[in-house]
This record gives sequence, C-alpha cells and structure tokens, in this order.
Amino acid sequence: MARYPEGRAERRIAPGVLARQVTEIFAACGMSGPDASLLADSLVHADLHGIHSHGVLRVPDYVAKLTHEGVNPRGVPRVVRRTGGAILVDGDNSMGQVGGAFAMRQAIESARASGIAAAAVGGSNHCGTMDYYVRMAIAEDMIGIATTNALPTMAPWGGVDKIIGLNPIGIGIPAGDEEPVVLDTALGATAHGKIRVYHQKGEPIPGDWAFDRHGRPTTDAAAALDGLIQPIGGFKGLGLAVCMGILASLLSGAGYGTESGTMETGAIAGADGQLYAAINVAAFEDVRTFRERVDTVVRQIRTSRRAEGTDALHAPGAIEAATAAHHRRNGIPLNDVTLAHVREAAGTLGVAFLLDGQATS
Ligand SMILES: NC(=O)c1ccc[n+]([C@@H]2O[C@H](COP(=O)([O-])OP(=O)(O)OC[C@H]3O[C@@H](n4cnc5c(N)ncnc54)[C@H](O)[C@@H]3O)[C@@H](O)[C@H]2O)c1
Repeated sequence: MARYPEGRAERRIAPGVLARQVTEIFAACGMSGPDASLLADSLVHADLHGIHSHGVLRVPDYVAKLTHEGVNPRGVPRVVRRTGGAILVDGDNSMGQVGGAFAMRQAIESARASGIAAAAVGGSNHCGTMDYYVRMAIAEDMIGIATTNALPTMAPWGGVDKIIGLNPIGIGIPAGDEEPVVLDTALGATAHGKIRVYHQKGEPIPGDWAFDRHGRPTTDAAAALDGLIQPIGGFKGLGLAVCMGILASLLSGAGYGTESGTMETGAIAGADGQLYAAINVAAFEDVRTFRERVDTVVRQIRTSRRAEGTDALHAPGAIEAATAAHHRRNGIPLNDVTLAHVREAAGTLGVAFLLDGQATS
C-alpha cells in the first residue's frame, strides 16, 4: 500500500467528522447546505482514496475563492442547451464540484435514453478529482469520463513557456466482484498539488516530475513550483493534454489554458470548463456479461507474472480502492500542516474546530 500521506506529524481523522468540519467551513463561506456538503464530500472522497493533492489540503484555496476571489458560493448551474445526448451547462460561476456533479447527473440521466451522453460545462471553476465524477456513473452501471481544463503548468515539448495544463482525464468502468477500473490521471508526471505536499513536508520530489523555470529537471520542490511540470510520456502526454483542454473548454466556450488564469496570477473566477460523459453499458452489452468480463481483465492484471522486485500488480483504481478501505477502518491520515490550515480557516470564519480529539496515531 503505497500512498498513505507521510506528514511530518499526522493524525487520523474519521471521514464523517472531517466531512462535517469542512461542510461547516464552506457553509460559513455562503454556500447552501447541500452545496457545502457536496464540496466537502468531494474533498474528503479524495483524501479517503489517498488522492491528497485534491483533498482538504485545498480548503484554504477554496475558502479564498468563495470569499474574496470571485467564485459565487450561491451559483446555480443550469442546462443551457440540449441536443440529443449533448448537453451544454452554464456553471453560473459556482465551484467546479457543484457544476460538475450537476453535469454528470445530467449526462447519466440522458444516457439512460440515448445510450451515451456528454455535458460540457462553462462558467466553472476548479472541480477537484475526476475520480469523484466517474464513480457517479459507475454507480449507475455506466462508464464515466471526466476531463477538465487546468491552469497551465507545462510547456510544449522542448519549450519553456507555461501554456499547457495538466488537464486530467478520468475514466471509470464498472466491474462485478472486483473493484471498478478507474483510471484518473493528470497528463503531467505529477499533480501540482502533490508537489505542494512535498514542499509542505520539506522533502525532495522524484527527479522525473518537474523542470525548473529553465527547463532543467529538478528534485527541489520549490524550484518545481516555480518551474514546469514534466508531461507523462513526453510529447504524447502533451498532445493528450492539449486535446483534453480543448474538449473541456472549447465546447462550452470556457477559457483554455492561460485564458482561465495562470499559476502566478491565480484562476479567473468563472472562466474554467469541464466535460463529463456517460456511456450506458446496457445500450451496448448485457451488463452482467460486461461486469464479469471486466472482472476477468482485472484478475488477469493482478495475477500476471511480476518483474523482480515488484510486490503486487494493480489495475487502474485498485490502489485507491484499497486505500479507501483502509482509511474507512482507520481514519484518514492528515499531516500537521493541512490540519493547521483547516483550523485557521475555521477560526477565520468563526466555525468550531472539530478535529482536536481525533488522534488515533
Ligand atoms: N481539477 C483539476 O484541475 C486537476 C488537475 C490535475 C489533476 N487533478 C486530479 O489529481 C489527481 C491525481 O492525479 P495523478 O495523475 O497524480 O494520479 P496518480 O499518478 O496517483 O494515479 C494515476 C493513475 O494511475 C494508477 N496507478 C497508480 N499507481 C499505479 C500502479 N503502481 N499500478 C497501476 N496503476 C497505478 C491510479 O490508479 C490512477 O488511476 C487526480 O484525481 C486528478 O483528477 C485535477
């Protein structure tokens, strides 16, 4: 099990208590109860699955967006246009999770009739982990696809201008007895937030994650935050990132790349875009047969021969599923820096801090 957060000091927090704490913080920012709860749920979901770069680490950023950086805490997403299974959503400058969950629900409902549907969201903001949305489709026996425009952190292959986002892609596929297949990957070698976690911990990053501002590989987290993220798969990853950015932003009229902001100046409120799609398995194949065949694919991966020095082989999403099961039993480990930031956000907003008595490790 590779991806428990390794804080300088950490505490394990019960997921329900963490969700209540973060819901109260977002409600104090002016969000409705259900929207605050949805936003908190998305962050706690990320932490639960070991995706800490998109977990409650984001609380201070999100509080800033909702209180003084122009995101509308009361934004109400709506369908602007519908053409068969093609749905255009205006996020109304709400948090990306509010528009994203709305859009994926729309795509799922539409795919029940049309077999396949996609909702493009404009007027949006940061939307967190793709994992959250694709699992909404999985729960309905559908394949979920999610992608978002992200603030630029990469340069064209061989370049140094930061003009391409990590523009992640999530694909979630329902299985039978096995855990679903969930590929959720940024198209850079790492998520920007993950470098921030290393920076918080004062640890060096792996040498193939980032370039400094001159395009030289670096293990220094500060130089990486000031520099560029390396793409996955060289120019191929960059090509995918460009295409995901176009899908996420140009169908909905949202900003693409630097049009939605920069890492240096911050995101422009309401300028972001995403695309969420649902493929109804039943429209193509008997669902039970499909699930059983996905199980076979997963087992084939898990039981295939390992190279020397490898402990286990994982289908996409298997590590996150095992991490979530472990964290449900033992609590979510959060490092002292993240906890201090949540405490500070609560204090600033006059919300009680609920996580003090939560130590289990
Ligand atoms: N909203 C945004 O703007 C934005 C931008 C970038 C990234 N993100 C999110 O950041 C999160 C982290 O992305 P990431 O690229 O760092 O994820 P990651 O590198 O940790 O994992 C990527 C994928 O690889 C799989 N994987 C990991 N280790 C494996 C192994 N040993 N064997 C087999 N499969 C393995 C995982 O199951 C996952 O599907 C994602 O949730 C993504 O959606 C969001």
